[in-house]
Amino acid sequence: MEYFATTSKASRRAVDCVVVGVYARNRLGIGAEDVDTASKGEIKKRIKSGDISTSIGRCTILTNVPGVKADRVAVVGLGKSGKLTVTGFKKAVTAVAQAISRTKAKSVLTCLTLEPVVDSSSYYLARHTAEAVHDVLYRFTQMKSGRKKKGSPLKTIGLAVAKRSDATKAKLGAEHGEGIAAGVSLAKELGNLPANVCTPSYLARTAKKLAAGNGKLTTKVLNESEMKRLGMGSLLSVSAGSAEPAKLIVMQYKGAGNDQPVVLVGKGVTFDTGGISLKPGPAMDEMKFDMCGAAGVIGTMAAVAKMKLPINLNVVVPAVENMPSSTATKPGDIVKSMSGQTIEVLNTDAEGRLILCDALTYSRRFKPAAIIDVATLTGACVVALGAHRTGIMSNSDELREEIFGAGETAEDRGWPLPLGDEYAAQLKSNFADMANIGGPGGGAVTAGCFLGKFTDGLNWAHLDIAGTAWKSGAKKGASGRPVPMLSQVLLARCGALP
Ligand code: BES
Ligand code: MN
Ligand code: ZN
Repeated sequence: MEYFATTSKASRRAVDCVVVGVYARNRLGIGAEDVDTASKGEIKKRIKSGDISTSIGRCTILTNVPGVKADRVAVVGLGKSGKLTVTGFKKAVTAVAQAISRTKAKSVLTCLTLEPVVDSSSYYLARHTAEAVHDVLYRFTQMKSGRKKKGSPLKTIGLAVAKRSDATKAKLGAEHGEGIAAGVSLAKELGNLPANVCTPSYLARTAKKLAAGNGKLTTKVLNESEMKRLGMGSLLSVSAGSAEPAKLIVMQYKGAGNDQPVVLVGKGVTFDTGGISLKPGPAMDEMKFDMCGAAGVIGTMAAVAKMKLPINLNVVVPAVENMPSSTATKPGDIVKSMSGQTIEVLNTDAEGRLILCDALTYSRRFKPAAIIDVATLTGACVVALGAHRTGIMSNSDELREEIFGAGETAEDRGWPLPLGDEYAAQLKSNFADMANIGGPGGGAVTAGCFLGKFTDGLNWAHLDIAGTAWKSGAKKGASGRPVPMLSQVLLARCGALP
C-alpha cells in the first residue's frame, strides 16, 4: 500500500473514494462538514432521511455527490461526538475498509485522521488506519486451487492532516503500520497453513528466507543431534513420537551495535495431538494453530526488520510436532532439561512448557535485556480471559506493566495474571524435580510458574495467547496477535515513537 499525507479538503481531491465521519445528533466530522457544504447539504439530508447512520462503524457509500471531486464518498458513523476512542476509530476504519474493498476503488483519501480521538495523535491514527486496512484485506488463498479471486484493487491511501507538521507524523505512522501489518500477515499465514505443510522444517525455512538478503538479520537452525548435545532432553521428549524432526530456530537482528538484545521465544508446536495423553477429536484441527507463538515472534521479527528499528532482537523458536507413537514419551516418563532440572511428564499434552523451558535456558547465552516467551499454552487461559486479552505473567512488575501498556496503545490487549510460590507448589513431583502439570486449579498460572523455574535471574515475561492467537467458528483463522503488542514494546524501547 502507498500512502500520502495531505492538507487538502475532502471535496477537492479527485480520488476514487473519500472517507468522512459523522457523529450522533447531526454533528459532522471535519471531512463531512466540507462535503456537506460543497454539496449543499447532501450529508445532513441523508442523515435525516435515515440513509446514513451515525452509529459507530456503520458505513454508507454515496456516489455522484454534487460539488465533490471524488467518485464516491464513504460516510461512516463515529458515535457520540467528543467521545471517539482509538478502539472506536479502528472499528470505523475497519467497516470503511470492508465497504470500500467491495468496490473498485484504487485510491482513497480518509479524513477520519482529522478527527479528535481521545488520547491519540496523527501518528497513531495513521498507524491504526494502515493496520486495520491490511487486517481487512488479508485473505488466505495459497491452499485454494483453481482461478483465484482477485484481491482488492486498493493501492493508495491519502491521510488527511490539519497542518504540515502532522504530515510527517502521519507518514511515519503509516510506515510503522505497514511494518506491523507485514508481521501480522506473516503470522496469520504461518498460523493458517495446515500442519502437513507448516512443519518444524517449514518454519525453519521461512526463518532462513526472512534473513536472506538482509544484512542485519541472520538465522541459524539447530537439528536434533545438536540439541541432544546441548542436553535439551525436555524439548526432544516432545518430538520423540513424531516422524518430523524437531528444529531450534535462532534469529538475530542487529540494529543497535552491541546493546543487550530483547529475546522473544515462541512456542512452535506445529501440531498438538496431545501425544499419548491424546486430545479428544472435536476441533482437534485447531491444534495446527499451536505454533502461533512461533508465528508471532517470527512475525514480530519481520516487522522490526521492515521498520529497520535501531534495536537488537533475537528470536528463538523451539519447533516440534507432538504425536503419539511407539516412540512417544509416556505419562510418568522423566526427562532431563538443559538446565539440569528433571521433569516428570505426567501429561504429554502439557508439551508447550517442555519445549519452552529448554529454549529459555538456551537463550541465557544472549544475556537478554528482557526475554518474553509467547505461547498458546493453556486452555485455562482461554477460560480465564476468553478471546479478548492475552495473559501476561512476569517475574518483574515493571516488565509486566510495560507489556500491558504496550498492548493498550497497540490495541492488542493483555491482562496480568499472577505467579507465586503457592502456585508453583502445585508442580511438586514425588519422583523428579517437578511435574509438568499443576492440577486442576489455576492452569494458566501453574504453566507460567513452570517456566519461571527456568528463568531465575532473567528479566522475563510470559504471554499466554491460547485465547487470542486465532478465531474459531465461521471466521476460523489466525489473528496475527500478539505482533502489534510486541512491536509496540520494541518501538518504545528503541525510541522510534514520535
Ligand atoms: N496447546 C494446548 C493449549 C490450548 C488448548 C490452546 C486449547 C488453545 C486451545 C496445550 O498444549 C495443552 O494441551 N495444554 C493443556 C495443559 C494441561 C494438560 C495441563 C490444557 O490446557 O488442557
Ligand atoms: Mn498440548
Ligand atoms: Zn500445545
